[in-house]
Amino acid sequence: MSASKDSGNAPMSSFLATSALRAARQKAAAIAASGEHRQFVEMVRKRFPNSSSVPYEVLQRDYLRIVDHHLEHLLPQLQRYITPATRRVLDFGCGSGGSAIALCMVFPDVQCQGTDIDPEQIEVARERARLYGVADRCEFRHVAENQPLPFPDGAFDLSQCSSVLEYVLDTDVRTFCVREMVRTVANGGLLFFSVPNRIYPFEIHKRKWGWNYFPQRLGATIIDSSYWEIRKLALPSILRLHNTARVQLIRPWTNFCLKKVRAQ
Ligand SMILES: C[S@@+](CC[C@H](N)C(=O)[O-])C[C@H]1O[C@@H](n2cnc3c(N)ncnc32)[C@H](O)[C@@H]1O
Repeated sequence: MSASKDSGNAPMSSFLATSALRAARQKAAAIAASGEHRQFVEMVRKRFPNSSSVPYEVLQRDYLRIVDHHLEHLLPQLQRYITPATRRVLDFGCGSGGSAIALCMVFPDVQCQGTDIDPEQIEVARERARLYGVADRCEFRHVAENQPLPFPDGAFDLSQCSSVLEYVLDTDVRTFCVREMVRTVANGGLLFFSVPNRIYPFEIHKRKWGWNYFPQRLGATIIDSSYWEIRKLALPSILRLHNTARVQLIRPWTNFCLKKVRAQ
C-alpha cells in the first residue's frame, strides 16, 4: 500500500508541481483549439440538446472546457496532497471527467478511477479522456446510488470528491457516500474534499444568506457540507485533518484533506 509508506510521501517540490501544472494548462489550451475538440463539442451538443439554453460562459466552464477550469482552480488545491507514492486515485462523483483528467495530465504516474451515478456523464468522461490523451490511466464507471463501489477495501491511496456532496440531499445517502470513500481508501490514505461550506452564512449556488442554516425549511435543492460533518459521517472510522490550513475550514468554498487513521 503506497500511501502508508514513509518513503515517497513528501509532496512534489513546488517548482516541479508548478511547471507540471503550467505544461498541462498549455496542453489543455492547445487541445481546446483543435479540430478534435470541435468534434467533441458537437458530440456534447447532440447528446445534451438542452445545452444550447445554458449561458455560453457556464457551458464553457462547467462542460466544454472543464479540464481547463479544474487545472486553474482545483489542481492548485489538490496537488499539495499528491506525493510520488500516490498512484491509485478515486474521483467520487466524477461527472464528465474534468477533475480526473486534469489530475492525470499533471501527474503521469497516477491511475484514476472515476465513478458517477449519471451514465451520460460517464460516456462523456470517456470521450473526454480520449481527447486529452489520458484514457489509458483514467477509467470511468457508472455506479448505482446507495450501492457499494466496485472496489475492495483500501483500493486507493487518495480519494477526491469535488462539488458532489452538496447535491446529495438525503442524509443516509450522504453517509453512505462518505463511508464508501473511506472504506475504499487505504489506512493512512487521504481523502480530499472540495465543497461549499455549510458553516458559512452565504450559500454560493443559491446566492442566499442564511440558507446554510435552514436549508430544509427553505426547500433545499442544495445542502452544503463541512469538515466537521464529513468527520462525523465517517464514524466509527477516524479521519484526521491533514496538511490543511485551518482558515480553509471557514472559507465559503472549503478545500480540505483528511487522513484515514483508523478503519471502522
Ligand atoms: C457538479 S457535478 C461535479 C462533477 C465533478 N466532480 C467535477 O468537479 O467536475 C456533481 C456530480 O455529482 C454526481 N452525484 C450526485 N449524487 C451522487 C451520488 N450519490 N454518488 C455519486 N455521484 C453523485 C452527479 O451525478 C454529478 O455528476
